[in-house]
Amino acid sequence: MADAVTMDKIVSLCRRRGFVFPSSEIYGGLGSTYDYGHYGVLTKNNIRGRWLQAMVQERDDIVLIDSAIILHPRVWEASGHVEGFTDPLVDCRTCKLRFREDQLDTAQCGRKPSKHPGETPDCDLTEARQFNLMFQTTVGPVEEAGSKAFLRPETAQGIFINFKNVLQLARRQPPFGIAQTGKSFRNEITPGNFLFRVREFEQMEMEFFVPPAEAEEWYRYWIEARYDWYLRYGLRRAHLRVREHGPEERSHYSQGTSDIEYEYPIGWSELEGVANRGDYDLTRHTEFSGTKLEFVGPEGTARYVPYVIEPAVSIERIFVAMMVDAYDEEEVAGRERTVLRLHPAIAPVKAAVLPLIAKDSGMVEKARALYEQLRQSEVVEYDEGGAIGRRYRRQDEIGTPFAFTIDEQTLEDDTVTIRERDSLAQERLSIGQVGAKLDDELSKPWTTPKTD
Ligand code: GAP
Repeated sequence: MADAVTMDKIVSLCRRRGFVFPSSEIYGGLGSTYDYGHYGVLTKNNIRGRWLQAMVQERDDIVLIDSAIILHPRVWEASGHVEGFTDPLVDCRTCKLRFREDQLDTAQCGRKPSKHPGETPDCDLTEARQFNLMFQTTVGPVEEAGSKAFLRPETAQGIFINFKNVLQLARRQPPFGIAQTGKSFRNEITPGNFLFRVREFEQMEMEFFVPPAEAEEWYRYWIEARYDWYLRYGLRRAHLRVREHGPEERSHYSQGTSDIEYEYPIGWSELEGVANRGDYDLTRHTEFSGTKLEFVGPEGTARYVPYVIEPAVSIERIFVAMMVDAYDEEEVAGRERTVLRLHPAIAPVKAAVLPLIAKDSGMVEKARALYEQLRQSEVVEYDEGGAIGRRYRRQDEIGTPFAFTIDEQTLEDDTVTIRERDSLAQERLSIGQVGAKLDDELSKPWTTPKTD
C-alpha cells in the first residue's frame, strides 16, 4: 500500500474530527496558532503520559519539577539567550514579507507566481539583522526599567536554576535527572507546516547531571533510549534516523548534539534533540547568581560541576509524527476508509461501545451498562447515531483500536462482537470478559501493521 499521507490530509483530518483547529478563528485567526479539541487534548495527554512513564515512573534516577514560565530576567542573560537566541531576519521592502536569511532557498516570496525571495526583479531585500526570538513582557502594573521579562523559550533553564534545591531536597547525586514538561514560547520568524513550527508549544525536557568523565557514555545512552521510545510507541523504523550535528551547527552551549529525525511529509526534520551541554549552564548560573551550583560528595570527597545530557522535544512534533505515521487510506469491500493506526496507548479513545439498533431498548441498556463499566478505567465512547458502518468509520478516523457491538445475539446469550481497527477481525466474547480483554489488549506490545 502506498504511503498516502500529506500534511494537508493530516491538517484536514485534525480539523474535521476536532483534534486541532486554527486558533481565534472567529476573529480571522492568528497565523500558525492552534487550539486543541477533545481528541487532540486526549492524544497530547497520552503522549505526555507515556513520556513521563518512561522518563520518571519506570526509573529511580529522575525527578520532576514544574518551574515558572516567567523567570528572573537575569536567567536569560546567564543562559546566553539575550545575546544569542537569534535568527537572521531579512525583510522584503516590496512584498513586506519577512524571511529567515538561512531559509531563502526554500521560502516563497509574496508575488504571483511566487518565487524564492530575491529571485524576481521586484524583490528588494534588506541586509540580514539578528532578531531575538524571545517574547518580551512586563511584570507588574507599571512599565518601567527593571520590569522587562521574557516568556521562557525553553523549559531547561527552570531546571538548572533549581539544581541546588533538588540536590538538597530530593537527596540526589549524579548521575540523576530532572524532568519538566510545559509551555515554551518562541517568536519564530517563519512558523509553519502545521504544528511542526509554532510560536507556542509544549516542551518535554530532561536534564541529566553526570560526572564529566561519564558524559559521552550518557550522551550515547540517551540517544538510544529516546530512539527506542519512538519504536515502542509504534513509529516505523524506516521513518526514523539519528543525525549528529557538525561542530558549526551546534548551539553555543553544546559539546555534541544529535537530532532524532522523522521523515515528515516535508522531508527529514528534527523530531527531538539530544545534547551534551557540558557544564555550560551550571557554570554560567553560578557566575551570574553568585550561588555555587556544583556537586560535593559526602565529607567533601568529590567536588565538581556536573555535565548535562539533555533530551528535548515538543509534544507538537511528536503529535505530527505519530499522526503522519498512523494515517492510512484503504478500500474495504468497495468503500474507502481513512484509518489512524495509532499505538493503542496513544489513541485518544481506547474503545467504542455500539448498540446495533439504537431503537432497541434492550440493546441500548446493555450497551450503556458496558460503557459505564469500561469508562471507569479507560476513555471509551458510546455511540448510537447512524448506520453501524458509519459509526465504525468514525472510530477508525480517530484511531479507536477496538469496538464492542451489542446486537440481537447479545440479548440471547450475553456475548458481544469485538472488532479490531487494523485487521478488521471480529470475534465474539462474553460481555463479562470485555473489561479483562480490553485491559489485556491495551497492555500488549504493539507494532504498526504498516510496512512501507
Ligand atoms: N533546551 C534545548 C532546546 O530547547 P531546541 O532544539 O531549540 O533545544 C528542543 O528545542 C525541541 O523543541 C526540538 O527538538 C523540537 O522538538 C521542539 N521545538 C523547538 N522549536 C519548536 C517550535 N517552534 N515548534 C514546535 N516545536 C519546537
